[in-house]
Amino acid sequence: MRKRDPADEHETPVRTHGGAPLHAPPADAGEAYRLAYAAAQPDAGRRVVAIALEASEFDWNVAPGVTFQAWGFNGQVPGPTLEAEVGDVLEIRLTNRLPEPTVVHWHGLRVPAAMDGTEMVQRPIAPGDTFTYRFRLPDAGTFWYHSHFNETVQLERGLYGALVVRSAEEPTFDHERVLVVDDVELARDGKVKPPGGWIESHDGREGSTRLVNGKQEPELTMAAGQIERWRIINAASARYLRLSIGGRPFRIVGTDGGLIGSPVPATEILLAPADRVELAVGPFAEGEIHRVETLPFNRGSFKAHRKPELFATLRVGPQAPSKARIPETLRRIEPLVTGPVEANREVRLGFTLGLKHGVEFTVNKEQHHRADPVRVGELQVWDVVNRSPVHHPFHLHGFFFQVLQVNGKPPGFLSWEDTINVAAFGSVRIAWMPDDRPGEWMYHCHILEHHAAGMMAHFAVLR
Ligand code: C2O
Ligand code: CU
Repeated sequence: MRKRDPADEHETPVRTHGGAPLHAPPADAGEAYRLAYAAAQPDAGRRVVAIALEASEFDWNVAPGVTFQAWGFNGQVPGPTLEAEVGDVLEIRLTNRLPEPTVVHWHGLRVPAAMDGTEMVQRPIAPGDTFTYRFRLPDAGTFWYHSHFNETVQLERGLYGALVVRSAEEPTFDHERVLVVDDVELARDGKVKPPGGWIESHDGREGSTRLVNGKQEPELTMAAGQIERWRIINAASARYLRLSIGGRPFRIVGTDGGLIGSPVPATEILLAPADRVELAVGPFAEGEIHRVETLPFNRGSFKAHRKPELFATLRVGPQAPSKARIPETLRRIEPLVTGPVEANREVRLGFTLGLKHGVEFTVNKEQHHRADPVRVGELQVWDVVNRSPVHHPFHLHGFFFQVLQVNGKPPGFLSWEDTINVAAFGSVRIAWMPDDRPGEWMYHCHILEHHAAGMMAHFAVLR
């Protein structure tokens, strides 16, 4: 049990690093961008996947008679699922047709800093402007892309999409589906309710309209006797998804950073905001109907979750033959750390009461914290310590980490992650290796309201 330091109680005044939060690209950002652009070349035999994305406002229908004024990519919510293979180069020409600036972050992708899509590495894309992201895809897995500007508005209104990268060696499934889970709070006038309020800044927004792939509580159908690969992305602002498929067993085959070592049987799984998971689902028998739902989960929010809430209904249709082959060994993951190790950094997640948001969220007692740099090739072992009574999903940009301990205990299995839940007054020890991608990086809580209220840090990776 970790001792609580009285100096970390929430009365402590918050320091900021000299006034306004610093979110601006460095002077050499243009040059770093040009270098990264030119360096992005496909592997031998692979290709450049070129995609045009347009961010704009449109009416989006979530259910019969339910339409809202969305902001999304290419006229749909979620935006198109981008698909490519390891070694491909993704070239995305993004045009902003919104009435305000935007930037797009490639969540989970190990791209050069200049392509990370944050205000730390580029200037926001002004209305009417176009910006091209170009990078090589080094890893297979389920990722996503989303606005990284005015997120509590832009993401909430629909500026997100899935990104799937495949490798030459994947287990064989009968069918694959991508499920992007979200919730949205609609006002009577057909608009998304604007952010605001003390409770919302504390809890984060949880919308009462629950969406899967942009539709309200849709019906999914699958064939009896088959095993499907479900790639699930939690794109919600704040909601934790304690996912159950009618209480039936499934197998976890992947997490944020792709496949895990071997399949792990489970009947439920927790996806904090921004988390991804890949599941082997089925086989079921014809006629079965299952609730794809979130079970009650207490994350310390004012809003209680006492009942399961439905996201989709799964109906099992007639039998079909199965060719699924899911090997016991999916992948070999080398541990970054073997044996005992001390942390070389502590990241403290805290909060304070303040005038701007009601509740201000901090990292090491600072809003928009400036953290110490790290060096390429120097192993990082961080204790992420939550000094607040609410859970926080910790997200590191651009690098995968391995979880060494959750509240002092090793996790159930080894995996690569970019987002990990840190329970109220809990802690997580992670290890990660800064590879040779110097530049400005960040980490933050992925509850969008907490991120906006300061629970984030910038740091440099130096050669
Ligand atoms: Cu998915 Cu900085 O975020
Ligand atoms: Cu948080």
